[in-house]
Amino acid sequence: MSGRVRIAPSVLSADLVRLAEQVAAVEQAGADWIHVDVMDGRFVPNLTFGAGMIAALKRVTTLPLDVHLMVVEPERYIAPFADAGATVFTFHPEATVHVQRQLAAVRERGMQAGLALNPAAPLSLVEDVTDDLDLLLIMSVNPGFGGQGYLPAATEKIQRARRLLDGRRSRAALEVDGGITRDTIAAARAAGADTFVAGSAIFCSDDPGREVKELRRRCHPEA
Ligand code: DX5
Ligand code: ZN
Repeated sequence: MSGRVRIAPSVLSADLVRLAEQVAAVEQAGADWIHVDVMDGRFVPNLTFGAGMIAALKRVTTLPLDVHLMVVEPERYIAPFADAGATVFTFHPEATVHVQRQLAAVRERGMQAGLALNPAAPLSLVEDVTDDLDLLLIMSVNPGFGGQGYLPAATEKIQRARRLLDGRRSRAALEVDGGITRDTIAAARAAGADTFVAGSAIFCSDDPGREVKELRRRCHPEA
């Protein structure tokens, strides 16, 4: 399969004491985006970063910040995250009532708008808003924690998502998040994903930059 591949290291698994250094290492190695997992302790049973993290990352990298909000009422975060410098703002459709309104509000604030689907969330949740999407994120784990195993059922769901976006002539990115490793990335790529989040595979290795390159290489088996 040809076309653009994006690697988005997730700083959830980075060593926060050495965050600037770790981000510089993956940027140097050709990472495309930095993925930032925002968890509120309600939508998922874990608590992580807020707008302050986005602002801090802005000071150490020029890469686009791919912000994944695992929060209830994501509308409350649109203005502060836009002000802090988020590039992509992705939320879960079950977390708010007026999904289309929030997607439009995200774009109005100058960010790219994304929707994320949990493993049990059907693609039909996004079918009627594909025109409002810059990114569709298929979760290949249940969100909340790094280091979980890739759920094999995600591969077929990515295929269906690819067909949905192509059928609508959508140019939205198709991202996969959770359990992406040297061993799982090729299947997700072959299924039609173009953007790959990886946290533990990159930051729990002894050489994060090398892993960025290796994950990209495995997206191009012919190379
Ligand atoms: C999980 C997060 C992921 C996480 C992925 O809830 O959305 O972005 O960082 O971590 P790995 O790549 O370790 O599965
Ligand atoms: Zn994520």
